[in-house]
Amino acid sequence: MRTWPSDRVVLGGDYNPEQWPDATLDDDVARMRECGVGFATVGVFSWALLEPEPGRYETAWLDRVLDRLHDAGIAVDLATATAAPPPWFARLHPDAMPVTRDGTRLSHGSRQTWCPSSPDYRRRSLALVELLARRYAGHPALAMWHVGNEFGCHNLMCFCDTSAAHFRTWLQGRYGTTADPADALDSLNEAWGTTFWSQRYTSWDDVVPPRATTAIPNPTAELDWRRFCSDASLEQHLAERDLLHELSPGVPVTTNFMVGFSFDGLDYHRWAPHQDVVSNDHYLAAHLPDAHVELAMSADITRGLAGGDPWVLMEHSTSAVNWQPVNTAKPRGQMLRDSLSHVARGADAVGFFQWRASRAGAEKYHSALLPHAGTDSRRWQEVVELGRVLDAVSEAAGSRTEAHVALVHDYDSLWTTDAASTPSTLHRYRDELRAWYGAAWRAGLTVCGEHPEADLSRYRVVLVPSLHLVSDAGAASIAAAAEAGAQVLVTYFSGTVDPDDHIRLGGYPGAFRDLLGVRVEEFVPLLPGTTTALRTPPGSAVPALDRVRGSVWSEWGRAEPGTEVVAEFADGPCAGDPAVTRRAVGAGSAWYCATRLPDDGTDALVAALAAAAGVRPVVPGLPPGVDAVRRRGDGGSWVFVLDHTGEGARVPLAGTDLVTGRACSAEEPLVVGPGGVAVVREGPGGSP
Ligand code: GLA
Repeated sequence: MRTWPSDRVVLGGDYNPEQWPDATLDDDVARMRECGVGFATVGVFSWALLEPEPGRYETAWLDRVLDRLHDAGIAVDLATATAAPPPWFARLHPDAMPVTRDGTRLSHGSRQTWCPSSPDYRRRSLALVELLARRYAGHPALAMWHVGNEFGCHNLMCFCDTSAAHFRTWLQGRYGTTADPADALDSLNEAWGTTFWSQRYTSWDDVVPPRATTAIPNPTAELDWRRFCSDASLEQHLAERDLLHELSPGVPVTTNFMVGFSFDGLDYHRWAPHQDVVSNDHYLAAHLPDAHVELAMSADITRGLAGGDPWVLMEHSTSAVNWQPVNTAKPRGQMLRDSLSHVARGADAVGFFQWRASRAGAEKYHSALLPHAGTDSRRWQEVVELGRVLDAVSEAAGSRTEAHVALVHDYDSLWTTDAASTPSTLHRYRDELRAWYGAAWRAGLTVCGEHPEADLSRYRVVLVPSLHLVSDAGAASIAAAAEAGAQVLVTYFSGTVDPDDHIRLGGYPGAFRDLLGVRVEEFVPLLPGTTTALRTPPGSAVPALDRVRGSVWSEWGRAEPGTEVVAEFADGPCAGDPAVTRRAVGAGSAWYCATRLPDDGTDALVAALAAAAGVRPVVPGLPPGVDAVRRRGDGGSWVFVLDHTGEGARVPLAGTDLVTGRACSAEEPLVVGPGGVAVVREGPGGSP
């Protein structure tokens, strides 16, 4: 995996000069130089300008933009412009407009109005990609190709007949082990459990996407549909990427992911290996009180997708977005903190949507690097300061973020947990992920997102929140981490189903029963507003769990001989049954938690895991809310410190703060101002 650009931490963003008169280009470039923009993503939504009529291309304007950016030393991430086809595409190919689950055919007039399975879209988009690749492959400004934009954001699922045929082909590939399609249909019937509710298929023609129906859809059909939709968009991505690799060899190709709270459509574990550079877009979840923690989780998962290597933050916002219920502005200092939180977690490029705030169109109230108010504004001053800081910390580019805690996550588990007809709609996969990630964040431990089948044995703590669906290989990899010495924590509803979404019989948590030494007979989800008290037995490994109250979930179960009960349910229908357990496994331990713990409970348990694993915070003793993350590389190590408390902090680090240029030491600790940031190049001898 390559990083891009490789020698600096670079500022940039989407640049849409086509929205402005030609003369604005000079002013844009001058302002970009003023604030230190080093890369621009160009052409994302310019198909209609590049091909105003089918087969007639106009590229002179783009030549001018690329030449001008190159003259100014600004690298171009050139989009394939395939994200939004022009209106003529809808006129010529009405069948390529996406169809919703209830059968409504959507119209053009917005963006991403295309069916991912449409052969017409594929043909026309590749013609455009070929034109761009042939024209710009040798352009000196070209540093990276940007395929489409945020695949699946608006057109993830299309339920049309073309998609149905594509889905059938995909299913035949998945279930066909012989040349006979009838065998594949038998396997599909088995996997989908179609004897239930008289759903047995006797002809492939009857297999359709899970369109609107009367009651609960077949869950495995729904799961396969989600897998298919991710793969269908991936096929389009790969078709564009392969053409770019062929016609523009040596230039890295990426597409921007959306790892975050608002999108769950693509299985990025399957996408990431196909990226030359992993890039991500992240927007703050204004409704969350701890939005900065959700940001950190997104960045840590993105780094995991990049295999631990540096990655590109393709887009975030300087201030408000335009698509949340209330689009609140970022307070002063937050843009810098957010940006450095991504850099701390491995981003070597900090991009924004977009360079200049639009005058017209659906996103005219979206913030930008250059706001409507112009350069005579506080936001612009912050942008200039951000450019200065990124330049000052550029020596950390290429280094890797150090993490000893893995957060195991997986899209099959997300899709099956949040599906219809599960034990509780109060249980949402990402809430459980966030709960455990948040506890590690508050403990000052750096986390890396990992797939269940990754090599987890290099981590000292492995968090496995509600991994509902797990393969045998995934379960074995998690068990191997415990054998190798990790403290592994598995939480409720994990291991329950196999990759066909069939229950693993004999007691929950199925795939993890032996590892955990726990056997659960029945789930007992808690009604809204209901909680259940925990009680710790004498000598408990985590006495702080005593009297903590669990919510959302409880269980009837037992600890097998050799498994230690750390806490049990003290009241309610599960009174006396284990709530938290621990079992010694090889050189490590396997812990289980059977309820949703409040923050003080997750904090106590994570503290116990960290103590048992011998993992210490990056900077011990910091007040809660002061984030510290270390990157390490050939050139040294850097500790990023971000104050989210608003009160500032004195931080025992020794070295030089690259943001202020000031030295710090055991005698003169680093002082981070309220809401402030510091990036300390650790000095000889390291930190005290
Ligand atoms: C995404 C898209 C951009 C823009 C922003 C708005 O990141 O890629 O084109 O719509 O959202 O937040």
